[in-house]
Amino acid sequence: MAWFRFECISSTFEGARRGQPAGRASMLLVMSVGAIVVAAGRGERLGHELPKGFVPVGGVPMLVRSIERLRAVEAISCIQPVIPASEHERFARLQLGPERLAAPVEGGAERQDSVAAGLAALPVDIELIAVHDAARCLVDPVDVGRAVEAARESGAALLAAPTSDTIKLVEEGVVVRTPPRESCWAAQTPQVFRAEVLREAHSKAQADGFVGTDDAQLVERLGIEVHVVAGSAHNIKITHRDDLQVAEAWLRESQ
Ligand code: CTP
Ligand code: MG
Repeated sequence: MAWFRFECISSTFEGARRGQPAGRASMLLVMSVGAIVVAAGRGERLGHELPKGFVPVGGVPMLVRSIERLRAVEAISCIQPVIPASEHERFARLQLGPERLAAPVEGGAERQDSVAAGLAALPVDIELIAVHDAARCLVDPVDVGRAVEAARESGAALLAAPTSDTIKLVEEGVVVRTPPRESCWAAQTPQVFRAEVLREAHSKAQADGFVGTDDAQLVERLGIEVHVVAGSAHNIKITHRDDLQVAEAWLRESQ
């Protein structure tokens, strides 16, 4: 689609066109950033009649909120939505407009398959990729920007929140270990990576038949350090019915 190609033109390309110098500092500045928003899950635990990404939170579908929050991050030049199969019409009815938004692609059976579908659709000249759960629709754009900056510097970064509970590792109903609480963080999204790192991590996971629950886990398997950026406890993944009420209360508070 013509508007898609136009809207998702990378900032590196724009920088090169404007004749910017190519020293390291300027390369960091002009590194093009894309985002994948995964919304292709079934939302079984939420148990709503609509696919989860289309479920309203405070009157606005989660997917719309997530995309708008990513659009508020100036560094992101292209947003790639991943939706359930056969939901293209429902997506079109959201009337999101073409600004920095690619046409949606269909996800797969596992979250990892959905990220891979988004990865395959992103322009090849995107250098940094932020992977975000549509279900984390309260993410603060400032925190997204902080994760992007951390990944620009280090190659791999995620938002996470320190856990307030003591975490137990449990096997067959028995505690096998209690990691020190100060070492325990709850992983959030976005998780941001240099494009070649994320692509390699997904290729290796696929080759090994490994299925992880987030992208950082796939990158860790490459032996690459993933840096933690402290995020907000409000960046919850809407999973159960109660989460909807909590999210709506926070939204009311912030108005
Ligand atoms: N997701 C996806 N494709 C999948 C599974 C999940 O794109 N096959 C996305 C979800 O849409 C969500 C994010 O990954 O935005 C996190 O997943 P989760 O909260 O588990 O959502 P669902 O898988 O939809 O929910 P459930 O596990 O309750 O069915
Ligand atoms: Mg799921």
